[in-house]
Amino acid sequence: MDVVNLRIMFGMHGPAEGSIEAQVTKLAELQRKGLVRNIGLSNVTRAQIQEGRKICDIVCVQNQYNLAHRDDDALIDELARHGIAYVPFFPLGGFSPLQSSTLSGVAERLGATPMQVALAWLLQRSPNVLLIPGTSSVGHLRENLAAAELELSADVLRELNGVAKAA
Ligand SMILES: NC(=O)c1ccc[n+]([C@@H]2O[C@H](COP(=O)([O-])OP(=O)(O)OC[C@H]3O[C@@H](n4cnc5c(N)ncnc54)[C@H](OP(=O)(O)O)[C@@H]3O)[C@@H](O)[C@H]2O)c1
Repeated sequence: MDVVNLRIMFGMHGPAEGSIEAQVTKLAELQRKGLVRNIGLSNVTRAQIQEGRKICDIVCVQNQYNLAHRDDDALIDELARHGIAYVPFFPLGGFSPLQSSTLSGVAERLGATPMQVALAWLLQRSPNVLLIPGTSSVGHLRENLAAAELELSADVLRELNGVAKAA
């Protein structure tokens, strides 16, 4: 398998501290046997990523992050400095789709949909961000792929950055 993400389950509402040494050591063993090519971590804290990186290379981190939920801002920048991909889950808000008059206003001005703007914002947030929006609709899939072509100006980015502060 190209990448296996170890999903940590310590907290009910997001990442919670606790050692992940035993689980990462097991995955590293599978990697040495050639069964797993790359290892990622999901729903983790900064300390857990540091612990994991002492055991093996960590190629990606998958945590909750989007325009309105930005707990990982500093972590994303730190991972970018280490060449580690950041894969936001719930990039469109998941079970509570993103809703914001700022987002809708920007989308209308750009002739795009709010979800496209939300994805374009993530892509421009940092070069290490990789997107995995979920959809059951081919139309939405096409829309989401087209978001990669949408360029947001510095002014628009500033405006969108206000969404999290208002949330
Ligand atoms: N590591 C973890 O703990 C964890 C936790 C949660 C999720 N994930 C992963 O993260 C990925 C994304 O999660 P997710 O799908 O739950 O959340 P999401 O991508 O934030 O949101 C998906 C929702 O957005 C809607 N949507 C998608 N594209 C749209 C568009 N262009 N316009 C309007 N609505 C649109 C979808 O409805 P339609 O079906 O109608 O398009 C669906 O309701 C998945 O691969 C999932 O497995 C990982």
